[in-house]
Amino acid sequence: MKLADRSLALPRARTALFTALSLLCIAPAFAAQTALSPDQRATKLEKRMSLKDMRHLLQSYNTMVAQQPPGGIGTAGYVSALPKWGIPAQQQNDAGIGVHNYPLDAGPGKQPNHVRGEAGNTTPLPSLIGIAATWNPQIAYDGGRMIGDEAFRQGINVLLAGGINLTREPRDGRTFEYLGEDPLLASRIDGAEIRGIQSQHVLSTIKHYALNDQETNRTTVSSNIDERAMRESDLLAFEMAIEDGHPGSVMCGYNKVNGIWDCSNHHLLVDILKGDWKYPGWVMTDWGADHGPLDAMAGTDQVSGIDLTTGLSIGSMSSSFGAPLTQAIAKGEVTHARVEDMVHRILRSMYAVGLFDHPPVTKPLDVEGDASVSQHAAEQAIVLLKNQSHALPLKSDIKTVAIIGGHADAGVLSGGGSAQVWPIGGPAIPAVKGPDWQWKVYDPSSPMKALQKLLPNAKVTYDDGSDPAKASALAKTSDVAIVFATQWTCEGADVPNLALPDKQDALIDAVTVANAHTVVVLESGGPVTMPWLSKVSAVVEAWYPGARGGDAIANVLTGKVNPSGRLPVTFPKDEQQLPRPQITSAQEVDYNIDGAAVGYKWYDKKNLKPLFPFGFGLSYSRFDYSDLHINTDGDHVTVSFKVSNTGDLEGMDTPQVYVGMPADSGEAPRRLAGFQKVSLQPGQSRTVSVTIDPRLLAIFDVPGHRWQIAAGSYPIKVGHSSRDFVLNGDAEVAAATLAP
Ligand code: BGC
Repeated sequence: MKLADRSLALPRARTALFTALSLLCIAPAFAAQTALSPDQRATKLEKRMSLKDMRHLLQSYNTMVAQQPPGGIGTAGYVSALPKWGIPAQQQNDAGIGVHNYPLDAGPGKQPNHVRGEAGNTTPLPSLIGIAATWNPQIAYDGGRMIGDEAFRQGINVLLAGGINLTREPRDGRTFEYLGEDPLLASRIDGAEIRGIQSQHVLSTIKHYALNDQETNRTTVSSNIDERAMRESDLLAFEMAIEDGHPGSVMCGYNKVNGIWDCSNHHLLVDILKGDWKYPGWVMTDWGADHGPLDAMAGTDQVSGIDLTTGLSIGSMSSSFGAPLTQAIAKGEVTHARVEDMVHRILRSMYAVGLFDHPPVTKPLDVEGDASVSQHAAEQAIVLLKNQSHALPLKSDIKTVAIIGGHADAGVLSGGGSAQVWPIGGPAIPAVKGPDWQWKVYDPSSPMKALQKLLPNAKVTYDDGSDPAKASALAKTSDVAIVFATQWTCEGADVPNLALPDKQDALIDAVTVANAHTVVVLESGGPVTMPWLSKVSAVVEAWYPGARGGDAIANVLTGKVNPSGRLPVTFPKDEQQLPRPQITSAQEVDYNIDGAAVGYKWYDKKNLKPLFPFGFGLSYSRFDYSDLHINTDGDHVTVSFKVSNTGDLEGMDTPQVYVGMPADSGEAPRRLAGFQKVSLQPGQSRTVSVTIDPRLLAIFDVPGHRWQIAAGSYPIKVGHSSRDFVLNGDAEVAAATLAP
C-alpha cells in the first residue's frame, strides 16, 4: 500500500525549473482565449486532441514514492504538461490544513530521519475542525487564500483540500481534517475555504465523496444508508459546499456506499453529482481507490497515484485507466464520447480556475503574514467550554502558574497523515513515528513561552506531567495549574475510544486535588470525554491550533483575545450515547441507525443530554437576543433579530437559528438553519438577518425524486447552541417542491 511509502516523497524541489518549463509550455494559441467560457475553451481544445493525448490527462503519477516522475513536485500526484496543446502540468499536493510537505532534506533517494531541526516549508492552519469552530466563513476564506498562495509560490497548482465528511463517528482519526457534524456549517466553511484557495489560481478538490466517515477498514468498508437519509445529511454537505466553492475536482473516496465502491458508484457520481447537481468539474480517485476501467462509465474521470515504475495504481495495484482503459475503449465498453467528456471536465476546471492563464510564479513565502493568518484563525477557533466563577481570564497580578504536560513548554500538537504540515523551523520536539507512515509532530509555538510574555510578573514553571505526584506538588504551590491534555489522531487509524490517552485523566484528577484552580487546555482531534469535568474550574478546547497555536492559547487564557469558538461537534458524555457505542470493525457500517440525524440531531431524537452540545461555547462577555421577526416569502424564510453585547468586554458571538419540522409531520429533528458571527462592543446591538436555504425546510422525497416542503408551521428557535434557545417563533410555509 502506498501509505508506507509516503515518507520518501520529494519535497518542493526543482521548483524554479518547473515554473520556467510550465511557462514555456503555454502555447500562445490556447493561452489568450479569455473571451470564451471555460467550457468553450475546453471544447475547442479537446476536439483537436488525439485519443493518446486525451488519455494522458486521465491518470496522475504518484509523487510520494522513491521513484519520482520527472518534473513532479507536489507531494501527491503529477500529470505532466502537454506542451503541444499548451496544457500545463498538474502538480497535485495534499492540503488538509495547509500545504502538506516533508522535511526539506527528504529529497529523492534520501531517507528523512525526522529528527529535531528538520524543517518543513509551509504554514499549518489550525485543524479543519477548528476552522469550523470559528463559525466564520471569512476565516475559512482567508485560510484558503493563504494556503493557495503558499502553493502558488512553490509551483503547486492543485490542492487536495476541502475535506467535508460529516462527523458520524467521532473516533474517526480524520475528524480533525473535517468540519464537524452539520451540513450547513460544514458547507459554508468548506465553500469559503475552497473559494479562498481557488482565488489564487490554485485548483481545489472537495473530498472524500462520499460517506468515508471512519478509517477502520477504510478501503473495504461499506457505508450503508438510505437514499433519503444521505441526501439530507452527508450528501447535502457536499452539495451546498460545491455550490458555494465551485471546486475544480471532487475526490471519490476509498469506501463503498451501499455495497458499491465510491469511485465505481454510478449513482453517486453520475446520477447525483453530475446529474442532479450538474457538477461540471472532474472526479479524481483517492490514491488507489480505483477499481477498473469501467469506473470511467460510473463517472470517474481521472485515476490518481499511478506508480511510475509499475504503471499500477498504488494500493489497488491495478492500472484501471492505463492499458485496461485502452482495451475497454477498443471493445466499446468505454465510449469515445465518455473519454471526451472526461477530458473536457478536466480542461474546463483548469481553465475556470486559471491554471492556463496564471501559471504559478515561484517566490518566497510571506512567512510572518501567513503565520498571522493562522494565529487569527486559531484565536477564533478556541472554544471556552467551562469557566466557573470567572476562573479565566487569568488575573494580571497572578504570581505563580504551573504549566503541566502536553509539551506546552515547547509547542502544540498537530494531526498526522496526508494533512501533516511539517513546520517552518522544524518540529518543537523530535517527531515520533505513528502506527504506520504517520508522524506525531509538535508545531514550535509554546503556550508556556507565550504566557510568560503576557504575564511578565508571574513565575511560570513547567512540569511534563509524567509523574502525577510531582505535577501535583507543583500545582499545590501555584496560584493556578494549567494542564495541557493532548489526544493525537491521524489518517489511517481511528482512536479506540474518546478517553484522553496516556493516563491523562488520572493526571488531571491528581492536579485538581492539589489545586482547586485547575484549568485544562485540550489539544484534541475532536470530542474527548472528561470524567474530571466537575473538579476543574475551566476547560478550553484548542483543537490542533497550528503555526502560532501557543500564542493563540495564551491570548485566550489571559483575555487578550475574548474566546468566540463554538462547537462544530457534540461532545458526548461517553461512548454509550453514540449511535454506535463501539466503532464498527465489520465490513459494513450501518448508518441507518442515525440516518439523517447526525450529531446533535441524534441527541435530540433520542433525548440524550450530551456533555457539551453542538454550537456551545462561552465568552468573557454576555450576549442576548431580542426582537425576532420571521418573514416568509414563497419558500424562503428570513429570520431577523437583534444581538446585544450585555457584558463588559468587546467580543464575538454566533447566534444560531434552528428550524423544526411541522408538529404533525413526525419528520426529522431540528436542523441548524442559519448563523452569523458578529463582533460587538459592550452595550452595542446589531440586527442579524439570515435566509434559510429551502432544502433545510424540506425532506428528500425519494420516489418523487425531489425535495419536498410540506405546508405548515415550522418552529424557529434562535439561541446560543443547539440546546439553549432564547427566541421562539413560527414560520408559516406553503407547500413546495424543489429540484433534486
Ligand atoms: C487520502 C487523501 C489524500 C491522498 C493523497 C489518501 O490516503 O485519503 O485525502 O489526498 O491520500 O495523498
